[in-house]
Amino acid sequence: MNNMLTAKEIRQSFLDYFKSKNHQIVPSAPMVIKDDPTLMFTNAGMNPWKGIILGNHPVKYNRVADSQKCLRVSGKHNDLEEVGHDTYHHTMFEMLGNWSFGDYFKQDAIDFAWEYIVNVLKIDPKNLYATVFEGSQADGLARDDEAAAIWRKHLPDDHIINGNRHDNFWEMGDTGPCGPCSEIHVDSRSENEKAQVPGRELVNKDHPQVIEIWNIVFMQYNRKADGSLEPLAMKVIDTGMGFERLVRTIQGKQSNYDTDVFQPMLKRIAQVCNAQCKLPNAEGKIEYGKDENTDIAMRVIADHIRTIAFAITDGQLPSNEKAGYVIRRILRRAVRYGYTFLGQRDAFLYQLVPQLIDDMGEAYPELKKQEAQITPVIRAEEEAFLRTLDKGITLLDKLMEDARKDGKTEISGVDVFTLKDTYGFPLDLTELILRENHMTTNEDEYNKALAHQKQMARDANKQDLGDWTVLVDDTQCTMQNETEFVGYDQLECEAHIIKYRQVSQKGRDFYQVVFDKTPFYAEMGGEVGDTGELRMQNAECKMQNAECRMQNAECKMQNAKCKMQNASR
Ligand code: ALA
Repeated sequence: MNNMLTAKEIRQSFLDYFKSKNHQIVPSAPMVIKDDPTLMFTNAGMNPWKGIILGNHPVKYNRVADSQKCLRVSGKHNDLEEVGHDTYHHTMFEMLGNWSFGDYFKQDAIDFAWEYIVNVLKIDPKNLYATVFEGSQADGLARDDEAAAIWRKHLPDDHIINGNRHDNFWEMGDTGPCGPCSEIHVDSRSENEKAQVPGRELVNKDHPQVIEIWNIVFMQYNRKADGSLEPLAMKVIDTGMGFERLVRTIQGKQSNYDTDVFQPMLKRIAQVCNAQCKLPNAEGKIEYGKDENTDIAMRVIADHIRTIAFAITDGQLPSNEKAGYVIRRILRRAVRYGYTFLGQRDAFLYQLVPQLIDDMGEAYPELKKQEAQITPVIRAEEEAFLRTLDKGITLLDKLMEDARKDGKTEISGVDVFTLKDTYGFPLDLTELILRENHMTTNEDEYNKALAHQKQMARDANKQDLGDWTVLVDDTQCTMQNETEFVGYDQLECEAHIIKYRQVSQKGRDFYQVVFDKTPFYAEMGGEVGDTGELRMQNAECKMQNAECRMQNAECKMQNAKCKMQNASR
């Protein structure tokens, strides 16, 4: 095994190998997806190629290879809460991939993969296992004998393992491109361990040292919404190799974080965090590999800074909803670990951006280009969250201390709710901190407090509507039921009141007034209503959202002829 290669050299060697096999090398597509309602982030190297695979877009190059930025924050092995606790799952990761669009298929795909990892990377074949699809009755598909026969050229029979639909039939989602696949697994255990339990028994068994490194998918079908499989017009090869795991294997490490993908960043985290550590007597003590909690925190930060920086680079700012909330949660998780385990009371993540650019800027030049945008966004987010954290953690510590004094391991659900509702302290963090302190909260109490708050919000929005006073007979109104909208050509007009009523809401009274015509566009389908003024004899009213708020205005509404002026457009 060649343990001299650096991560940068390994990434480059993959691209060089496939270039030598006539593949077009393309840059990574963005990690943030803006035009596919089924996905927020690129979670597999093939996402950007979906349109071509399904025949909806033309094929520009029929052989392509790249290193794609991917993000997985949910799914069986990608629970965000686990990242950092183990040594081989990540939020953001790089997926090395090669594609054939209607060109080569199983034979070349397997032969290329074998040649690259055995001849170029020099991984010892005796540590390699390949899986093949065993078939599925439900889908009416037979075992992939063709792939098995190709593997037999390279591997002995006992290194070729049948896999079920879950492991060996790759699908993009509930619908979309799919097909049988062959995975390559590497056994990196010691010779002693290998002698006791053969690697074949540990393939796909979640063993941290017997891991899948490459998935070769033979895309042949499109899964329809009714569950049926429709053959694709063109056969496609889609492969994905987890870069961080590959580097670990090549560099002979037990943990992804022990490779040079993460080591420079871990060192930088130690420097930055030591310089501003507020833990008592901890000056200069933050160092990777010395203490379990410190290590977890440092891994969390080393992992998350990549996700945060790349997401912002690709246009996804942290926010309160959807993809933005995913990024905000990841950023806050990193800040929280830094706060609790590394004594960080001031923003520190933003100081790691230059290191990330050193590590990844060559492969992903967009990072350097966006540095001036990324850094202040991270810093501002950190600072805002640190203020919330400070207050919330102090309160939570006090609650736990009080509970302990009373000999309890449970804190009140109402208090937990108050932390969230009043102080903005995230519930998932409260739960995490409670778990770490072997404490719980009363979920019933929490749910009751939540239901009560929702009811109060509903009540607060309740409107008391008075009866309409109809004036239409006294006006020169031309339209009986509808208001004529004249706002396309006029911002001002004279109008007559058809009817009005009093509305009481949140302790305030105002009026709703209906006119025969209006230049005000009312709120509709999410649009914001116009604002402006309504003038009557002796009275002026402000129009907001095209509703008439008459506070302090004595308006004689009978026979009222009004002048309306729209100030919003
Ligand atoms: N699309 C395949 C995967 O993500 C290669 O594993």
